[in-house]
Amino acid sequence: MTSFPDREAGSQVAPFILARWSPRAFIPDDITQKELLTILDAGRWAPSAYNAQPWRFIYARRGTPDWDRLLSWLIPFNRGWAENASALVYIASRTVTDSASTGEPIEAPSHAFDAGAASVLIQLQANQNGWHTHPVSGFNKELAHAGLELPEDHVVHAAIIIGHRGATSQLAENLQEREKPSARLPLTTLASEGRFIPPAPVV
Ligand SMILES: Cc1cc2nc3c(=O)[nH]c(=O)nc-3n(C[C@H](O)[C@H](O)[C@H](O)COP(=O)(O)O)c2cc1C
Repeated sequence: MTSFPDREAGSQVAPFILARWSPRAFIPDDITQKELLTILDAGRWAPSAYNAQPWRFIYARRGTPDWDRLLSWLIPFNRGWAENASALVYIASRTVTDSASTGEPIEAPSHAFDAGAASVLIQLQANQNGWHTHPVSGFNKELAHAGLELPEDHVVHAAIIIGHRGATSQLAENLQEREKPSARLPLTTLASEGRFIPPAPVV
């Protein structure tokens, strides 16, 4: 796992959280099925409303028959760098859940929230195992939905690109300057006690 001690000096946030960031330069290494499934296994342990576990992880590994197909739905900008990665994992979730009383499908309002939680655990586990990740939503949702053969009551949210980091110099010049951990809004803007506090006006 790469360490970024200077990302936010003095932060009390756990180093494994601060160390996660989303690079675009990847080495075209293979990942074994076992390595990838170990990473995806972490997603199972996310919390979800009623423990419904609405997420699905549908993947392709570099060098396997599904790789080009799953890569092809990315917008050209994302495909340009993601094609060097080792795995591509689409994150989908079921929009309904089966009612405990009637067995009929009822709306599951937090399915996307739950899938997001699973996606973060996958990214953190990948880091822990020596891989880097980059989530993307820049892909054709209709093509992905059809190509993944998702049922009608599922939606696809994002894909997680997984790979070993390559050299920044392999990227186009405009992407090289973005190839680093990014900043965040201050906690004072994001957290407030008891009620929403609007951001201070910019003077
Ligand atoms: C749902 C989602 C969609 C994203 N889509 C893209 C994308 O299509 N292309 C891309 O290069 N980065 C994409 N990103 C990456 C974000 O730009 C990145 O996470 C953000 O700038 C914070 O940087 P960090 O992940 O390095 O901390 C996406 C991230 C998320 C969570």
